[in-house]
Amino acid sequence: MASLQFEDGSPNRHAFHDTGMAAENLVIQASALGLVAHQMAGFRIDQARTDCQIPNDYEPVAMIAIGYPGDPALLSDRLRAREVQPRARKPVNEFVYSTTWG
Ligand SMILES: Cc1cc2nc3c(=O)[nH]c(=O)nc-3n(C[C@H](O)[C@H](O)[C@H](O)COP(=O)(O)O)c2cc1C
Repeated sequence: MASLQFEDGSPNRHAFHDTGMAAENLVIQASALGLVAHQMAGFRIDQARTDCQIPNDYEPVAMIAIGYPGDPALLSDRLRAREVQPRARKPVNEFVYSTTWG
């Protein structure tokens, strides 16, 4: 949840950055505790606002499901294939630049 304004009403340009930092810390801590955390941007923002009674000056950025890992054998074929596939990460040189963009 990003708070888009400071208490004095001025805009908080870093709201999304701060929210991402907090989410990352949550995911790292969950992992350290043996939990799994799955971040999701694909949720109904209006419904989240209504169901969770989120004030208008907060922006729902992402949902994070947290739980203990289950047995992949219980998943459908499609989800099991996704769950057990080797994790692939983008090479760092695709998004870390020195001096100028690209
Ligand atoms: C901000 C954000 C939004 C995401 N939204 C979705 C989503 O809506 N649905 C989904 O299945 N995965 C979503 N993902 C991806 C998963 O949370 C996860 O990062 C990805 O499946 C890789 O999982 P792994 O770290 O176990 O390899 C999102 C990730 C981030 C960081």
